Amino acid sequence: MTSIAIIGAGPGLGLAVARRFGREGFSVALIARSRDNLDRLTAELRESGVTAAGFTADVRDPASLSNALAQAGPVEVLQYSPRPAREFMLPVLDTTAGDLIGPIETSVYGPVTAVHQVLPGMRALGRGTIVLVNGASAVRPRAAVTGTSVAFAAESAYAEMLHDALRPEGIHVAQVIIPRGIGGGEPSHEPGVLADLVWAQHVGRGEFRTFAAPLD
Ligand SMILES: NC(=O)c1ccc[n+]([C@@H]2O[C@H](COP(=O)([O-])OP(=O)(O)OC[C@H]3O[C@@H](n4cnc5c(N)ncnc54)[C@H](OP(=O)(O)O)[C@@H]3O)[C@@H](O)[C@H]2O)c1
Repeated sequence: MTSIAIIGAGPGLGLAVARRFGREGFSVALIARSRDNLDRLTAELRESGVTAAGFTADVRDPASLSNALAQAGPVEVLQYSPRPAREFMLPVLDTTAGDLIGPIETSVYGPVTAVHQVLPGMRALGRGTIVLVNGASAVRPRAAVTGTSVAFAAESAYAEMLHDALRPEGIHVAQVIIPRGIGGGEPSHEPGVLADLVWAQHVGRGEFRTFAAPLD
């Protein structure tokens, strides 16, 4: 059975993507910090017939992230989508160097750690998909959300380079940009619709960057 790892799995997008890939026969490895969160998600998935397991890790702690992915085993698909902390989103003039540590650890060191951990398995399989999910500040910095704007820009650069480097090996790297809030009433932003978009990146293997909806 082929599998997906969802790093930063919660009841919104994480669960919806787990269901979407589960419906296609994937087993699902969910990674997040809270055991309670993971237990709730895996129970829901198992009830609907999806093979799922949860592994605790903090993406800001590279050793814990590598360890969780090692326990999950080889994956064909990796989704990197931890929800950014509120304190990552300070106004630009209030943001100190120290305030950028969390965003950079989360959005740069985390993805690099995860990619290095899963790549050997994808290479052995001869295929793979890596999907990174971000808000609009990844492509349009916004002074009200400085940490994510800075760190998502770095994550975008890394992911685009990775896309070009891995394409010859049949490993597709995609970035999904979600402008505005998930589940805020826009039909395009319902978790199930966004999960279909992630699935489409996996099967379509098209452009590097996709938008869930046009930017404002
Ligand atoms: N929600 C929005 O309005 C919105 C808007 C635009 C883009 N996005 C993007 O959508 C993705 C998130 O989707 P969602 O908001 O629906 O979230 P979700 O899938 O419901 O949950 C995300 C999970 O990330 C986990 N997480 C946060 N920090 C973590 C860390 N340091 N280490 C490990 N796990 C961590 C949290 O679980 P634990 O607390 O158990 O760790 C949380 O439950 C992100 O890529 C985000 O950039 C969201």
